[in-house]
Amino acid sequence: MVAARTGLPVVVKGVLRPEDALRCTQAGAGAVWVSNHGGRQLDRTASTAACLPDVVAAVGDQAEVYVDGGIRTGLDVVAALALGARAVFLGRSPLLALLDGVVGVGRLHRELLALTVETLRLAGCRTPGDAPGLAAAERTTPR
Ligand SMILES: Cc1cc2nc3c(=O)[nH]c(=O)nc-3n(C[C@H](O)[C@H](O)[C@H](O)COP(=O)(O)O)c2cc1C
Repeated sequence: MVAARTGLPVVVKGVLRPEDALRCTQAGAGAVWVSNHGGRQLDRTASTAACLPDVVAAVGDQAEVYVDGGIRTGLDVVAALALGARAVFLGRSPLLALLDGVVGVGRLHRELLALTVETLRLAGCRTPGDAPGLAAAERTTPR
C-alpha cells in the first residue's frame, strides 16, 4: 500500500523468515533486507547468513534481497553475495569509522572493496556467484 500510494520503492528491513519475505513482496515491497538489527534486540537471534538462502529462494525474482549483520571482511561480503544477496550493508563499522569523519568512512569502504576483490582473486573467482563454496566457509579472521 505504501509503495502504491507513494510510487517509491519500499525496502523492508529485519526480515528473517521466508514466509515473511514472501508477504512483503506480495504487499509490493521492492526489496527485503535480511537483518537481525545487529543482534541488538535479542541475544541468540538467528544469524542473517543462516536465514539468507531461504529468503532468497522464497523471493525469487520478485524483489531484491539485501543483508547485513557482522559484515567485516571481504570474505563476509563475498559469502553474502554468493548466498544470493544483491547488496550488503554495514552498521557498526561505519559508525566507528566516523571517529575519523567522512574521510574515515570513505577509507573503510575503499578497504572493504579491496578486501572483497582480494578474496575473489584468492578464490580464483570472477564473481561471488562463482564461489558458492565460500559461503559455507568457516570464519577465518577474528572480529
Ligand atoms: C548504535 C546502533 C543503532 C542502531 N539503530 C537501529 C535502528 O534504530 N533501527 C534499525 O533498524 N537498526 C538499527 N541498528 C542496526 C543496524 O541498522 C544494522 O542492522 C546492524 O548494525 C548491522 O550489523 P553490524 O553492526 O554487525 O554491521 C542499529 C545499530 C547500531 C550499532
